[in-house]
Amino acid sequence: MEIKKVGVLGCGLMGSGIAQTAATAGFEVIVREVTDDLCERGFAGIEKSLGRFAEKGTITAEQQAQIRGRMTSTTKLNDLADCDIIIEAIIENLETKRETYRQLDQICKPETIFASNTSSISITEMMTATSPERQQRFIGLHFFNPVPLMKLVEVVRTILTDDDVYEQAVEFGKSLGKVPVRAGDKTGFIVNRLLVPYMLDAIRALEEGVGSIVDIDNAMKLGCGYPMGPFTLGDFVGLDTTYYIAEIMFNEFREKRFAPPPLLKRMVLAGLYGRKSGRGFYDYTKDAKNPTPMNLL
Ligand code: CAA
Repeated sequence: MEIKKVGVLGCGLMGSGIAQTAATAGFEVIVREVTDDLCERGFAGIEKSLGRFAEKGTITAEQQAQIRGRMTSTTKLNDLADCDIIIEAIIENLETKRETYRQLDQICKPETIFASNTSSISITEMMTATSPERQQRFIGLHFFNPVPLMKLVEVVRTILTDDDVYEQAVEFGKSLGKVPVRAGDKTGFIVNRLLVPYMLDAIRALEEGVGSIVDIDNAMKLGCGYPMGPFTLGDFVGLDTTYYIAEIMFNEFREKRFAPPPLLKRMVLAGLYGRKSGRGFYDYTKDAKNPTPMNLL
């Protein structure tokens, strides 16, 4: 089966980025959100991102219109019936995901590949909501924020994934302009297995007075050539998301390095989620481009 039509579930930061990337690569894309308002908000973000590429001359105005023309949105799961692959990027809640997959399993054609963009939930646990035939066509496709720029996609297989489906998913990742890496269905896959303990260690270093927010960020940015220091990255990813992933990884492996430090928990409880809420390790409310470090200790 050739992949021509891509269905994307969820039009938040990740879903909209995945939809944009697939449409840019020439695929026909349909995005499903739960309300029209959420569809509109997601598509506004896509317009903005495409506009940035057009401004830079990476794409022409004509290509921008063509990419936009390949994308539609819907609030009905039924409209995804003829998709060749479904990429799910909805809320990180196992029960919600399982219920959505259960319904889609009835709606989609037997050949449709089901993929999840989850960063930490087990693909196997989602897969078992579908029929035995579909379970062989169930994989993880984990993208990175911002999806239109980040070159990596983790292609995740379970114990039951069919070899041909897996290879097709790897090729699909390439056709999106990404570099696919192969990973097994082990919580956190490759990137978060290594990234999450690093980000949590940075918070522990801050708690222990090793350095300030700005100094730790500068140390890792300028000393290691990382594009962002760990606190800027945490604010960018979302501290609620980081906390949630760490909790799942800690519950899975029961290893101290995945345990969320008390400061992270308190920040999340206090609504300091990072950029999206205006404050995290930095305060973005006065000048988002030049945020000031928060006094957290
Ligand atoms: N769409 C289009 N263009 C975009 C964009 C978007 N969404 N976001 C940024 N850009 C463009 C900007 O317009 C800018 O263009 P110019 O160079 O022409 O000015 C360029 O990208 C660089 O952007 P900025 O100047 O704003 O900032 P930057 O140089 O720091 O680059 C970044 C931004 C690409 C995000 C870079 O900082 C980076 O790579 N950061 C690390 C991101 C990262 O680690 N992501 C993974 C997070 S983990 C995850 O996602 C998985 C998980 O499970 C938690």
